[in-house]
Amino acid sequence: MTCKFYSWCKPLLLASALLGTVNVEAQVHEISKNYQAPTDPAVQKKLADWQDLKFGLFMHWGTYSQWGVVESWSICPEDEGWTQRKGPYSADYNQYKQAYENLQKSFNPQKFNPEKWVKAAKDAGMKYMIFTTKHHDGFAMFDTKQSDYKITDPKSPFSSNPRANVTEEIFNAFRKDNFMIGAYFSKPDWHSPDYWWPYFPPKNRNVNYDPAKYPEKWNQFKNFTYKQIQELMTGYGSVDILWLDGGWVRPKATIDTAIDWQRGIKFNQDIDMPKIATMARQHQPGLIVVDRTVPGQYENYTTPEQQVPDKPLSYPWESCITMGNSWSYVPGDHYKSTYDIVQLLIKIVSRGGNLLMNIGPGPDGDWDPEAYKRLEGIGRWIKINGEGIYNSRAIAPYSDNNIYYTQSKSKAAVYAFVLGNNSTVNLPSSLSIKLPNTKGIKKVSLLGAGQSIKWQKTTDGITVNVPAALQQNSGLTEAAVFKVSYK
Ligand code: GLC
Repeated sequence: MTCKFYSWCKPLLLASALLGTVNVEAQVHEISKNYQAPTDPAVQKKLADWQDLKFGLFMHWGTYSQWGVVESWSICPEDEGWTQRKGPYSADYNQYKQAYENLQKSFNPQKFNPEKWVKAAKDAGMKYMIFTTKHHDGFAMFDTKQSDYKITDPKSPFSSNPRANVTEEIFNAFRKDNFMIGAYFSKPDWHSPDYWWPYFPPKNRNVNYDPAKYPEKWNQFKNFTYKQIQELMTGYGSVDILWLDGGWVRPKATIDTAIDWQRGIKFNQDIDMPKIATMARQHQPGLIVVDRTVPGQYENYTTPEQQVPDKPLSYPWESCITMGNSWSYVPGDHYKSTYDIVQLLIKIVSRGGNLLMNIGPGPDGDWDPEAYKRLEGIGRWIKINGEGIYNSRAIAPYSDNNIYYTQSKSKAAVYAFVLGNNSTVNLPSSLSIKLPNTKGIKKVSLLGAGQSIKWQKTTDGITVNVPAALQQNSGLTEAAVFKVSYK
C-alpha cells in the first residue's frame, strides 16, 4: 500500500514542501512464532478480558504530523521507500534532522480535545486505546523528566496549555469511558545520545556503537528507557497494555535470521526486559506486555501489521491497521471505506483476533473529518450487529465464501456474517449456513430485522429462507448477520 502524492498545499507553509510518499507495506512486521502464554494469573485474566474487546483505537501522533510525513522514519538513514526525505532540507541529512527536531518549537495542537475522540471512538464500538507516548524519533508526548525533547518543555509552545501533558489527558479521558488503556513506547530512541551517539554518524535504525564495547553508554540508555517506562507506569493512572515497538532493540539471541529486517541487526541490544516488566507490573498488576516481534514471556500477544492472518491463530493476536494509508497524519490521506473497515473487523474477529485501527491526529490536535465519518458508519453497523462481535469466539469453518462465523462465549448462539459486495447488502432467497451442530436450534433471526426466518436442516448446517422484503433494499449495510440461537 503506497500513499499518493497529495495535492493539498498551504502556500508559504513549509509543510506543503514536505508531503511525500509513505510506504507502509514495506514495513510489515512478521507474526512471531513460538508464543509463550503468560503464567501470572492477573495477566492471564487481563489478556482474556482484552480478547473480548475486539476493537481498539490506535493513534500515532507527534511533531512529524506538522509536516504530514511518515512518523519518525524520515530521519532514519536507510534507503527505503518509507524513509525518503522531502522538502527544503532533504538534500542534507544533518540539516534535515535539525529541522525535524526543531518541529518541537512549533508544535501547538490548539484543537486538542481528547473527549471528542473518546465520544467518536465509543460510538463506533471501540473498547480500548493505544497511544504513541514516544515514537522512534524520541519526542516524548508526556512529561518525562529524562529529556527536554518533549511536548511539555518550554521550547514547545503547547507547554503553556493546561492540557500539555497530552498522554495524561488522553489516558484519563479514555479511561473515564472504560476503555482499556495502552501505552505505545518505542524502545529505540533516535534523539538519545546514548542510542545514536553523536561521536559516530547514525547508519541505520540500530544503535550506532557496539554496546559490548561501550557498556557504560549502553547502560545509560537502559536506565533512561527504564526510567521513562517507570514514569509512564507510575504517573499516568491505571495502564492495561505496554506496547513496545522497535523490535530491533532485542537480545541478539532472539534474532530470527529468516526475517529480512532482523538480519540487519548487528549488535546485542538487550535492554533487560525482565527488569522493565517486573517494575511495570509492580505498579500495574496484570499489565499486558507486548514486546512485539520478540517471542517469549514479554510478547503476551502478537501483532500482525497491516495484514489479516488467513486463518485463526492459536494464541492471542491483534492486527494493527491504518484507517488511512499512513500511521501518521497526512493531509488528504485516503481513508478506507466503512465497508472495508467492517469487513476487516469481521474477518479478524472470525479468526479470533482483535482489530486495532489507527487514526493519526493532525498538527491542530484533531482528526481528519473523514475519520469521524467512518467511525459514525461503523457505529451504525455495530449497534445492530455488535452482539456477534464482542465476547465472541472463533468457530469452524470460520468462513465459507462470503459468510464468516463467530460463536458467543456461552455457546448460546452462532453468528453468520454475510458480507455484501459493497455497502448495500442484497440477500438471495435462500442461503446455506454451515454449523458444527444442528441439535437444539431454537430460533434463527436476522439482526436488525423484525421478521422471523424459516430454516431447514441440511447435512452440514441449515438453509435459511430470506423473506422477500429482506432480499433487496432491506436497509442492511456492509454485512447482514444471521443469529442461530440454541436452547
Ligand atoms: C510500522 C512502522 C512504525 C509504526 C508501526 C505501528 O512498524 O514502521 O512507524 O509505529 O508500524 O505498528
